[in-house]
Amino acid sequence: MVLRTIFGIPISGNPALIMVRVLSGSRYSLVVAVWALVGCVLMLHLYSLIHPRERSEGDIEFHLSQLQLTHELQASQDEGFQIPPPRGRRSPRAIKRRPRRSTTLIEEFLDETSQVRHMFFPDQRTAIDPMKEVGDDNMYFSPGKIWLDTDGNPIQAHGGGILYVEKLGMYYWYGENKNGPTYHAHKKGAARVDIIGVSCYSSKDLWTWKNEGIVLAGEETNVTHDLYQLNVLERPKVIYNDKTGKYVMWMHIDDANYTKASVGIAVSDYPTGPFDYLYSKQPHGYESRDMTIFKDDDGVAYLIYSSEDNSELHIGPLTEDYLDVTHAVRRILVGQHREAPALFKYRRTYYMITSGCTGWAPNEAHAHASESIMGPWESMGNPCIGGNKVSRDTTFFSQSTFVLPLPKIPGFYIFMADRWNPAQLNDSRYVWLPLSVGGAADMPLDYNFGFPLWSRVSIFWHRRWKLPNGWNG
Ligand SMILES: *[C@@H]1O[C@H](CO)[C@@H](O)[C@H](O)[C@H]1NC(C)=O
Ligand SMILES: *[C@@H]1O[C@H](CO)[C@@H](O)[C@H](O)[C@H]1NC(C)=O
Ligand SMILES: *[C@@H]1O[C@H](CO)[C@@H](O)[C@H](O)[C@H]1NC(C)=O
Repeated sequence: MVLRTIFGIPISGNPALIMVRVLSGSRYSLVVAVWALVGCVLMLHLYSLIHPRERSEGDIEFHLSQLQLTHELQASQDEGFQIPPPRGRRSPRAIKRRPRRSTTLIEEFLDETSQVRHMFFPDQRTAIDPMKEVGDDNMYFSPGKIWLDTDGNPIQAHGGGILYVEKLGMYYWYGENKNGPTYHAHKKGAARVDIIGVSCYSSKDLWTWKNEGIVLAGEETNVTHDLYQLNVLERPKVIYNDKTGKYVMWMHIDDANYTKASVGIAVSDYPTGPFDYLYSKQPHGYESRDMTIFKDDDGVAYLIYSSEDNSELHIGPLTEDYLDVTHAVRRILVGQHREAPALFKYRRTYYMITSGCTGWAPNEAHAHASESIMGPWESMGNPCIGGNKVSRDTTFFSQSTFVLPLPKIPGFYIFMADRWNPAQLNDSRYVWLPLSVGGAADMPLDYNFGFPLWSRVSIFWHRRWKLPNGWNG
């Protein structure tokens, strides 16, 4: 006969009968039975944490070499910024804003005349130029530095996203070309640049980008056209439709006062355009401002947009040709006031990074997760690691725009964000950082016995970093 114990109480016999005996209450009190049940639930939970369901053997083998590959990416850097004491003349706007003794890092960031502006917007001399002999800097991403294309011009692809075209082995980066004068349309209006169009850049290595030109141009004369230059075109994203063989672009279309709150759709036979602009609409009859689209593994694509005065997000599938939304729509993150959504999927879980709503000023990113893309979505708090407290609380002084999968390194992604420069929007910078999914989330849900249901999403600060060898095959 085998002798076992549960919490120190000796029990003999078939393990399947143990619970029955405990629960029968013939020898033990109800309290013991309840504790035994709780114990079993906890053990099962621990087991499932240690042995996640969907891990295949291949993944585990890969995991060993991945550890070496990704070790460097996860070693985030700390930053001890020194703020000089206030002295000399400051911009009148900055003085009005803050009659206080000490300045904070975020105020320095927003002050165009700050002495430490070079920390946030390093000047032309530090520009990353992939065509020059850069020696030690070769292939290194340098968040915040000016990034030149293969012609030697600063890349103009703001609020952008990347499409990988497998048959060409090519990445295409689409974004707003903002290379015009920044101005205020009226006193209370936000800083703006007229619509120039959507730029496209191509690259095989994600570092050397060739300008493919403007693939959807603004409209200079027709004032009733959505793309008329005094309107707004933001956050263009392109996906490929396998059924129609078309490249489909979705974007935020608005008037200068952001009252039109619509999405626009354009289509092309080629990744490098030209794209034909089709029309704009308010999806499902709702306001739509910051938005993105996401193509799932099964070929179904979704539109995600900030709505109801940016107080919530809406999500719904597109039609099969990706040229419209269907009737299905869900309200998610209701009352959370999030914008700048960037979606990605790891194993069978959907993740999203969003920002708060503070105009051009940076704020704290949140990560969200869901088992079903239509929700319910749960918020997991701030994914940023490293830097310092202020930079973590401001998404490293930037705002999310896209998360690019690195399929050869499972669980790793490139987080793409914009460091907006409202004084000169064409000089806004790109902040690309490694993002990983793994480990326990820091905000466990109440109903889950205090155990994390989701993996943590982490964005690691690096002053400079590069992709590990083998990221591309
Ligand atoms: C931005 O535009 C200004 C003129 O409005 C120009 O002098 C400057 O070089 C541009 N900057 C970039 C990064 O293109
Ligand atoms: C101006 O744009 C509107 C809306 O796209 C279009 O219906 C109209 O034909 C255009 N007018 C001209 C002269 O191109
Ligand atoms: C935007 O709002 C301002 C101030 O309320 C107004 O003067 C202007 O005509 C509006 N512009 C558009 C395009 O609606």
